[in-house]
Amino acid sequence: MLEADSLSRRFDGRTVLDNVSFSLGEEETLAVVGPSGCGKTTLLYMLCGLSAPDAGQVLLDGNPVSRPRNDISIILQDYGLLPWKTVRDNVAMGLKVQGVSKAKRRREAEVRLDELGMLERADDYPGTLSGGEQQRVAIARAFATRPRLMLLDEPFSSLDALTREKLQQTMLDVWKRRRVPSVLVTHSLEEAVTLGRRILVLGGSPATPVACLDNPGFGDPALKTTPEGFALLGELRRTLEGI
Ligand SMILES: Nc1ncnc2c1ncn2[C@@H]1O[C@H](COP(=O)(O)OP(=O)(O)O)[C@@H](O)[C@H]1O
Ligand SMILES: [Mg+2]
Repeated sequence: MLEADSLSRRFDGRTVLDNVSFSLGEEETLAVVGPSGCGKTTLLYMLCGLSAPDAGQVLLDGNPVSRPRNDISIILQDYGLLPWKTVRDNVAMGLKVQGVSKAKRRREAEVRLDELGMLERADDYPGTLSGGEQQRVAIARAFATRPRLMLLDEPFSSLDALTREKLQQTMLDVWKRRRVPSVLVTHSLEEAVTLGRRILVLGGSPATPVACLDNPGFGDPALKTTPEGFALLGELRRTLEGI
C-alpha cells in the first residue's frame, strides 16, 4: 500500500538520506531505527508529503504523495496538541477538516478517548495532562480520522519506562482493532521488536538502509523476553554497532 522508491534528501548541499526504498503492506508495521541525526524524521516528513524528496518518490496505493493529505496521520514526539483547545476538540480536529458534522465529531472523539482511557479528561486542556496522558490524546486524535496510513516519530521516547510500556500495549490494542499500516520511528530496539512487523535499520553518511529484519512475532510485548525476540534484539544491536 505504501512504496518508498529510491528516496534521497539533501539539506544545504549535504545529502542526509540516500536511496531509501521499502514497501509497507496492508496490516503491516515498519519500525525504523538508526543513529540520532541520520534522517528518520526527514523520512517521515517525506512519507506524508510535508517535505519533498530530491530524488525518488512516495506512492500510496499507487498514487504519488506530494503534499500533506488528511488520510495520513502523523504522531510527533511532542504530541502536537493545541493548548487552547480541550482534549475533545483536539481529537475532533481532523474530523472537522474532513467535513464531519459537529455532533458526529463529538461522538467520534468520545469513542476514541474512551478507547484510550481518557474520556474523563475530555473537557480538560492539554496543559493539565501528564506526558503519557497527552500522548494518549494524540493517539486518539491520530486514529479518529480513520487514516489510511499512520506515521509515528519516537512517540513514547519522552515517557518514563512504565508509562512507555503501558502505552505500547495500548497502541497495540488499538492497532490490532484497526490494523492501520504504520511506520514507527524509535530509538528503542525493544520497542522496534515489539511493534515492528519489519525493522528497517538506517545508517551511514549519507544514511541508507543497512538492513531490513523480518519479525513475524511482532505485536506481543512478551516477545522481547523469548529466545526468538532475544535473538532479534541481538541481531539489531550488532547491525547498529556495525554502522
Ligand atoms: N529543515 C532542515 N534544514 C536543514 N537541515 C535539516 C533540516 N531538517 C533536518 N536537517 C538535518 O538533517 C539531518 C537529519 O535530521 P533528522 O531527520 O531530524 O534526524 P533524526 O530524526 O534521525 O534524528 C540532521 O543533520 C539535521 O540537522
Ligand atoms: Mg527525529
